[in-house]
Amino acid sequence: MKRLGILLSGRGSNFEAIAGNVAAGRLDAEIAVVISNRPEARGLETARALGLKAVCLPSKGMEREAYDRLVVAELKANQVDLVCLAGFMRLLSAYFVRQFPGRILNIHPALLPSFPGLDAQHQALEHGVKVTGCTVHFVDENLDSGPIVAQATVPVLDDDTADSLATRILQQEHRIYSEAIRLVLSGNFRIEGRRVLAR
Ligand code: GRF
Repeated sequence: MKRLGILLSGRGSNFEAIAGNVAAGRLDAEIAVVISNRPEARGLETARALGLKAVCLPSKGMEREAYDRLVVAELKANQVDLVCLAGFMRLLSAYFVRQFPGRILNIHPALLPSFPGLDAQHQALEHGVKVTGCTVHFVDENLDSGPIVAQATVPVLDDDTADSLATRILQQEHRIYSEAIRLVLSGNFRIEGRRVLAR
């Protein structure tokens, strides 16, 4: 059974969706460890309530690579095969990325390469796009970069606020993150340049 390591910083709804699919047998994997860089993250409580291993490694005041060494050590101690960033609000160092080559995924609430970084839903509204969505991608050391595994579109409605838009995007995030994890764990893909293609 493949082992997932989940990194989060907050609410943890993507983590919950993944955990739900694992529990229901829709995702053939186990969650080996959930790590948060923020002690107050709700996702940590959820993990504990689900009986999963939940570890808090506070990042406050720590230099990037020194912190990443702690996280990598925890992931390796738990024999993690695939690292899933789920609302983890930190850029990974080159050191971290090298430790898990092609084995780190992230989810972003926009159709990358549009609107990387913070407040992607707000950025989409401000820009006036009519369609936005979400992206699951492999992680490299740049922000919201790396080959795209899955995307879903979400229409922007005239009466949308950043919150209402975020809520609809989140429903798609919860769906495509597990699909992307399934594909990556299956190994039935190849990467050509930036393209993730079916094998
Ligand atoms: C999601 O919108 C995700 O795309 C972004 O951060 C948010 C995390 O939400 N990276 P949650 O913690 O999974 O509920």
